[in-house]
Amino acid sequence: MNATPYHSIPLVKGLPLVGNLPKFLRDPLGNAQSLAVHGNVVRSRTFFETVTLLGPDANQFVLHDREGNFTSRGGWAYWIDAVFPGAIMAMDDPQHKHHRRIMQGAFKRSAMERYVQDMGPVIADVLATWPTGAGHTLKVFPQIKALTLNIAARVFMGMALGAEADRMNQAFIDTVAASLALVRRPLPPLAMWRGVRARRWLVQLMRSRLAEKRATESPDLFSQLCHARSEDGERFSDHEVVNHMIFLMMAAHDTTTSTLTTMVYCLARQPEWQDRLRQDALALPEAQLRYADLAGCERTEWVMKEALRLYPPLTSIPRKAARDCEFGGFQIPKGTPVGISPIHTHHLPSLWTRPTEFDPERFSPGRAEHRRHAYGYLPFGGGAHLCIGQHFADMEVKSVLHQLLRRYRFGVPEGYRMPYQLVPIAKPRDGLPISLQAL
Ligand code: HEM
Repeated sequence: MNATPYHSIPLVKGLPLVGNLPKFLRDPLGNAQSLAVHGNVVRSRTFFETVTLLGPDANQFVLHDREGNFTSRGGWAYWIDAVFPGAIMAMDDPQHKHHRRIMQGAFKRSAMERYVQDMGPVIADVLATWPTGAGHTLKVFPQIKALTLNIAARVFMGMALGAEADRMNQAFIDTVAASLALVRRPLPPLAMWRGVRARRWLVQLMRSRLAEKRATESPDLFSQLCHARSEDGERFSDHEVVNHMIFLMMAAHDTTTSTLTTMVYCLARQPEWQDRLRQDALALPEAQLRYADLAGCERTEWVMKEALRLYPPLTSIPRKAARDCEFGGFQIPKGTPVGISPIHTHHLPSLWTRPTEFDPERFSPGRAEHRRHAYGYLPFGGGAHLCIGQHFADMEVKSVLHQLLRRYRFGVPEGYRMPYQLVPIAKPRDGLPISLQAL
C-alpha cells in the first residue's frame, strides 16, 4: 500500500504566529494529548513545523532506528550547538559510536563506586545547612539545585565547596539558560550572550586543569574522561574532553534536580510512602550510601521511576528525518523535524493502570507495567542515544534520598498541588515550600 503524502498529515495550527508554542510551554502533556486526538502522526508548529509521532511503536520507530531514518544531530543542533558544541547527543554514527565507546570508560563500575563514595560527604555537608523548625517552610527547589551543583563540582570536577565552585556553578547556570533562550543570537545582555560568555569561562577553567587531570588519574569524572579508552585503545583529545565535560554537566544537572524535586513532592504528599522509604534507609548500616547498598533501595527505585513517569525531565525528544521514510501510513520526507513525546506515552491508559495516580508499586516485579512495551517507559530515551548517565542519576538520587530520609521528615499542607512547569526547564513555580523537621 502506498503511504499518504506528507501534506495530508493532520495539521494542528494553534494560534496565529506562535502556533502551539504557548501550549507546549505551559502544558506539554496537555499539548501532546490534544495532538493525539488527530491520530498518532500529527503536524504542529512550536518553534517550527514538526511532525509528532505518538505512542510506544512510534518511540521504537524513532529511537531504535536500525535503518538510519533519523538524525539526532538534526534534532538537537538548533538547541545546543551555540553553547554545547561537540555534544555527544548531537552526533550521528559513525562519530557517535566512536565517542560513546570511549565515554563509556568514565562510567565503568570502578569509577561509579568512587563517584558514590565522593558524593556522600557533600550531601551530608549541604543537608546539614537546611533550616528546620516548627512553623518554618523551606523552598526546597533552590536548595536541591544548589545541592546537585555542589555534587557536580565535587564529583565531576574534584573541587571542594567554596568560592571557585560557586563561580563555576553560576557560569554553568548561565550556559544552560542559553540553550533554552528564545532569542538565539548572542546580543548583550540577553541569555544567549551571557551563556556564550559563561561557556568561554568554563572552557578556560577546564583547560587550566587539563594537564593535572591527565597527569594522574583521580576519582572525578573529569580525570576519568581524560583517561577513558575504548576497547581499541582510542582516547579523547583535550578539546573533546572539555566539550564532553561541559555537556555532561548540563545533561546531568537539571534532569537530576527535577527528579529529586518531584520525588520530594510526591513523598511529601504521601507520608506513608515516605515512612516506607525511611524504614529502608534506616535499615542500611551506614549514614552515607555505599555502592553495595544500591540493591537495598528497591522501593526508592520504584518511587524514582514513578516520579520520572509522571514528570519526565525531557518531555519530548527531537530528531530530523535523515531520509524519506514512512510511519502510520504517512510519508515523512528527508529533512522533516520529528518529535516523540515520552510524557504522552507515560500517561497512556493502554499501558498504565490509572495513569494519573502516584502508584510506585506499578514498577514492582509482580506488576511491572513498564515492561508492557519495550518503548512504553522512556525517561532516559532509548536506542543508540540512551542516557549514558542513567546509573549515575540513579546513584545520586538514591544517595540524596538516603541521607534526607534518615535526617528529616518533610511535608506539604493538605490539598497542596505543586505548580510545576516542565518546559523550558523543569521546576516548581513556587519553589516547592515544604515543612522540614529533624528526626
Ligand atoms: C534523571 C536524570 C536523567 C534523565 C531523565 C536523563 C534523560 C536523558 C535522555 C532522555 C536522553 C536521550 C536524549 C536523546 O535521545 O536525544 C539522555 C541522553 C544523555 N544523558 Fe541523560 N538523563 C539524566 C541524567 C544524566 C546524567 C546524570 C548524565 C551524566 C552523568 C547524563 C548524560 C547524558 C548524555 C551524555 C546523553 C547523550 C548520550 C548519547 O547521545 O549517546 N544524563 N539523557
